[in-house]
Amino acid sequence: MQAFAYSNGQLCAEEVALAEIARHFGTPCHVYSRATIEQQWHAFNSAFGRRDHLICYAVKANSNIAILNLLVRLGCGFDIVSIGELERVLRAGGDARKVVFSGVGKRTDEMQRALKAGIKCFNVESIAELERLNSVAGKVKMMAPVSIRVNPDVDAGTHPYIATGLKENKFGIPYADALPVYAMAAIMDSVKVVGIDCHIGSQITSMAPFINALERLKSLATAIEDKGIALQHIDVGGGLGICYQNETPPTPQEYVAAVLEIFSGTPCQLILEPGRSIMGNAGVLLTRVEYLKQTPHKNFAIVDAAMNDHLRPALYGAWHNILPLTEQKKNKGEVYDIVGPVCETADFLGKDRRLFLQQGDVLAICSVGAYGFCMSSTYNSRTRACEVMVDGKTMHEIRRRETLEELMTGESLIPV
Ligand code: LLP
Repeated sequence: MQAFAYSNGQLCAEEVALAEIARHFGTPCHVYSRATIEQQWHAFNSAFGRRDHLICYAVKANSNIAILNLLVRLGCGFDIVSIGELERVLRAGGDARKVVFSGVGKRTDEMQRALKAGIKCFNVESIAELERLNSVAGKVKMMAPVSIRVNPDVDAGTHPYIATGLKENKFGIPYADALPVYAMAAIMDSVKVVGIDCHIGSQITSMAPFINALERLKSLATAIEDKGIALQHIDVGGGLGICYQNETPPTPQEYVAAVLEIFSGTPCQLILEPGRSIMGNAGVLLTRVEYLKQTPHKNFAIVDAAMNDHLRPALYGAWHNILPLTEQKKNKGEVYDIVGPVCETADFLGKDRRLFLQQGDVLAICSVGAYGFCMSSTYNSRTRACEVMVDGKTMHEIRRRETLEELMTGESLIPV
């Protein structure tokens, strides 16, 4: 099933024309397909068969409560990186016992809240963090469940800003130090070792880096258990890429099959933390052409979405397909840079795209479901877009457009 496809010449989300959504909710507007989200989740989940496993969706990819709630209903767990994400998961009806807490900079108050909520595991990224967690848990007479995030020093072959498994990256504990850190954790009073984890990066499009990292994780897990430290789970992180343009990433089935094969000899529960591969192609961003502007060098289509609504092109030079809502013959029209109103040259959504355009047309920026809305800001005092979930023939507004009043809430003048 293709979530966003032309039907009778009209680009649709499931059974709703995107033009209808733009008319009804205005632009810019993020649109998601419920069926695609659920289909992607099932692809991961069913690939495990009867093997003990838990899918912990990476909340950072898209944290709208309605989306988290759909995943809760499927039995999903969650990978969080802040207390804000934990509160969202709980608000969405999620079970804290299925939550793993990643991130290099967990604050004391975040540790306290997560302990109180009863999360499954803290994915610890440094000795300093381990020591702090031991002391925070000790003060409330609790045992903090921990996994050590190991940095396997593997090149994920992705954009440098989203590679996390190299020795020069801030993430995880160096591979060579991991065993002594496990020995240290094992004798601490208020932490209990429950697992091991790694995450080498995002938008990974071949199996080789995963296999490399997982083989290293496996031999480390064996060495840890040989020291008499029992592991209940192995968390292999997220990172599986999607097709934005012409990439051919492994499917969830292929990826899970490799994980199952590598860890076939252990009874440990297997955990995955996918984000992009569940949400990426389940969302588009609708934007309207405000102006067409010709210069001697370029044609610009100035649209009403900008880098504050969708940061990936500006931040990573990311390529996202841009489609007109009414199907067009290929090679018609002019070559445009699709740019937003923000005062930055980096404010582009796509460059050199051939389109037949008129002012007022609506375009769909594709593959924006992950790291789209959640990375949006209010830069240039632009209110954040609305979000709509399509379910078959029905559209649900799952976040209304921010108002100017909300934008300025909490600001105040100094008295004199
Ligand atoms: N687990 C951990 C510990 C992570 O740091 C991440 C992503 C994930 C899981 C999920 O990875 P995924 O399956 O989505 O690749 N803003 C960037 C992506 C940043 C990813 C950060 N960590 C982008 O737009 O490409």
